[in-house]
Amino acid sequence: MSEPLLSVREIHTYYGDSYVLQGVSLDLLEGRIVAILGRNGMGKTTLIRSVAGLTPPRRGAVVFKGRPLHGQPPYAIAQRGMAIVPQGRRIFRSLSVRENLLLPTSRLAHPAHVAGANGRRKRWDLDEVLKEFPQLAERIDHPGGTLSGGEQQMLAVGRALMANPDLILMDEPSEGLAPLLVRQIERIMKSVREHGHSILLVEQNFELAMSVADDIHVLASGRFVFQGTPAALSREVEVLDHHLGVSGNR
Ligand SMILES: Nc1ncnc2c1ncn2[C@@H]1O[C@H](COP(=O)(O)OP(=O)(O)OP(=O)(O)O)[C@@H](O)[C@H]1O
Ligand SMILES: [Mg+2]
Repeated sequence: MSEPLLSVREIHTYYGDSYVLQGVSLDLLEGRIVAILGRNGMGKTTLIRSVAGLTPPRRGAVVFKGRPLHGQPPYAIAQRGMAIVPQGRRIFRSLSVRENLLLPTSRLAHPAHVAGANGRRKRWDLDEVLKEFPQLAERIDHPGGTLSGGEQQMLAVGRALMANPDLILMDEPSEGLAPLLVRQIERIMKSVREHGHSILLVEQNFELAMSVADDIHVLASGRFVFQGTPAALSREVEVLDHHLGVSGNR
């Protein structure tokens, strides 16, 4: 079997004295979507921050493309081929859609990680992103702050794609979106995977994670209480009920 694109090994992450991630491990293979499900405050964003170098783990290792990321600053990690779609989108509100999309290409895009190991990776540029998100094309010169929540989410995803990353970290992309827009996010994630990208997705939306993920991990108070396929999770009545608040009789 090929080496994982991302390997998180027994990480322990703190904010000061507050001990949040208490020994978390996962592997993500190239071309896959791995979802982390868990209720509010369980440590999902902290896991994303740990992987991206924003809140580095105090113990354990994050290995990306075969090399440990230990001690590297976030921008260096991003340059190695990782992009974040942050919780709450965080687009530049006063910059136009076009400017938002073009920002990362100057700073982050690196030809070395454009091809992808299996050669089927799509090369994203402004035209390709606008083809994938026609709503953004219509509003190309509008300030980001005037977009609806759904359009801002598309913009955040489009901006991440513009860096042509190997791995995209998505933190609750469905948060606050109407069901129709959640469907669109779902389609986009599947399309992004078909284009050869890999996604680490953090979600509270159970249906979305079950629909897109190849593997699911359930996080509860800084530890995984389940790891496996969506089909296996659907049989774990106890985990569904206790940790996700969904009924096991689905
Ligand atoms: N900057 C911080 N300083 C101190 N504690 C923090 C900080 N950020 C998060 N925490 C705490 O760490 C724990 C995990 O938070 P985290 O943001 O990772 O949860 P989450 O699963 O992403 O929640 P949500 O679904 O609400 O986004 C929580 O108890 C939270 O209060
Ligand atoms: Mg969060």
